[in-house]
Amino acid sequence: MNNQDLITEIRQKVDIVDLISDYIPLIQKGKNYFGVCPFHNDTNPSMSVSREKQIYKCFSCGASGNVFNFVMDYDHVEFKEAIKILGERAGVEVNGIRVAPKTTKFDRYYEMYDIANKYYQNNINTKEGQRAKKYLESRQIDDELIKEFGIGLALDKNNALTTILSSKDYSMKELEQLGLASNSHDAYINRIMFPLHDISGHVVGFSGRIYDNSNLNKYLNTKETIIFKKGECLYNYHIARDHCRKLKSVIIVEGFMDAIRLSQIGHKNVIALMGTAMTGEQMQLVKKLSTNVYLSLDGDNPGQTAILNIGEQLVKMGLNVKVISLPNNKGEHDPDEYIIKYGQERFDNLIENALNYSDFKINFLKIGVNFNSDVELSNYVNSVIREVSTIKDEIRREIILKKLAIEVNLSYNTLEKRLNEYLEFTNVVNREEEVKHEPLPKKKVSSKYDKAAYVLIYSMVNDPWAIRKFEKEDVHLMTKELRYLASEICYYYHKYGTINMADFYTYLTDKEELLVVYNFIMSLDYEDDISVKAIEDYIGVIKEYNMRQEIKRLNDLIKRENDPIEKAKIAEKIRLLRIGE
Ligand code: UTP
Ligand code: MN
Repeated sequence: MNNQDLITEIRQKVDIVDLISDYIPLIQKGKNYFGVCPFHNDTNPSMSVSREKQIYKCFSCGASGNVFNFVMDYDHVEFKEAIKILGERAGVEVNGIRVAPKTTKFDRYYEMYDIANKYYQNNINTKEGQRAKKYLESRQIDDELIKEFGIGLALDKNNALTTILSSKDYSMKELEQLGLASNSHDAYINRIMFPLHDISGHVVGFSGRIYDNSNLNKYLNTKETIIFKKGECLYNYHIARDHCRKLKSVIIVEGFMDAIRLSQIGHKNVIALMGTAMTGEQMQLVKKLSTNVYLSLDGDNPGQTAILNIGEQLVKMGLNVKVISLPNNKGEHDPDEYIIKYGQERFDNLIENALNYSDFKINFLKIGVNFNSDVELSNYVNSVIREVSTIKDEIRREIILKKLAIEVNLSYNTLEKRLNEYLEFTNVVNREEEVKHEPLPKKKVSSKYDKAAYVLIYSMVNDPWAIRKFEKEDVHLMTKELRYLASEICYYYHKYGTINMADFYTYLTDKEELLVVYNFIMSLDYEDDISVKAIEDYIGVIKEYNMRQEIKRLNDLIKRENDPIEKAKIAEKIRLLRIGE
């Protein structure tokens, strides 16, 4: 079987509605299914999925495609990887498939980082790496983990990496721009190196840790570059992704030592923030991993404050957030230290007993409250009730309120009355927000000529009759992209003897500019059974456009022409065009 047949077979065996429902909830309306589009920030169900056509499209952001496109965009993987994922799902052997890797304008930089990464990794196993290795051993990072996480070493020399990369034709300017050198020297000297990957798995940066009694900053991170954006980076994301989906949860920690340790004891669905800050981009990325999030940040004050900030926002995004409570004691306040000190089993217990975010917050609100002060007590009660009003589960609301009533020695009824006031208030706010919610942006209205071309192309992938008509009439579309796209459609049809919307997406995978146009046209919601008469009319419209263009060109020509005889000739041509000769 050749590549194309295999790919088509996988596409046919994986039903798009089944696939997408594994990622986002879909609701059936008529013959299509709808869900909240994961490709832009939204809460409206603007993505529609068609079982019949085996494609999805978002009416808001214009994302569209077949099963391969969905996996590629959702998981940020290349076509080859998407084939593997879906091949597995379809039970189709894909080992024989060869797909040219996608080239990007950053390939040169990825290669450069690859060289650096290999070089650093090699160093750690040399004689000069012995001290670093000892340090890692002392922190119970064994050879297996070193290999798994690609941990390396920058030697105590200021021109080791720069020499290697310069000899491979990378300029010092490039090295500095990409953060591997500064002031014409290696950027990293005498540090244990942790490679940082982008979501697709390319090494795009490093974090280097001191390992002897140096008084420099503990970690040195790659500066922002065109391939490394700290606010979009989550340590171990590319590895955790599959595990999160299987385990249906994600664990968030602060540091990579924590991530490495959790992974070692079997929690491979772990990612690290690399600090206590979390950006909106990072939250969106987490949302793609799972809707069940465990926050396992440090037990110290910055860690706990971060849990409150981050938890609040993740809950607002509709995620189920649980908090793993670590002690606020030196030597046991991060997951790594805790596991080293108390072992895997006790950490697993912490996970088991993780608190719902709202319970965590309520506990937090109690800290330092003086129950003998009326003001403090009433503030406390009000803040707890406000938090309770955000909980959707009525039973949980009642349980918490009953406990609170006993704790503060007030009647349940009083508390319930206050809760209802808050609920009423949030309802009003929600209703107002609903009203304020912007309607879906109206599609930019295109000219009748554009529309004619779009509908024609839409019909061509739906109905071979339109392809034959297009060829017979020798239609000349108005832009280069549209012409290329149409000619690819004809080519595909003649080569494979058939064509459909879903497979044609796959065919365009490595033709990015055309894919953009195709995507756009497919996202316009045209009728499926466009009549023969309508197609003929649209072709007529396109021809009218061509004629107008030609007249315009001739008119320009006349203006520049000085010879009266030539002028007359052109004028005659225009006249003939006008009367349709
Ligand atoms: P921590 O100081 O909690 O690091 O910082 P850690 O994971 O416990 O590290 P070890 O155990 O001392 O080796 C958490 C994260 O914050 C970032 C790093 O990504 C670190 O993993 N950080 C910390 C820096 O970027 N720079 C620093 O100087 C310190
Ligand atoms: Mn630590």
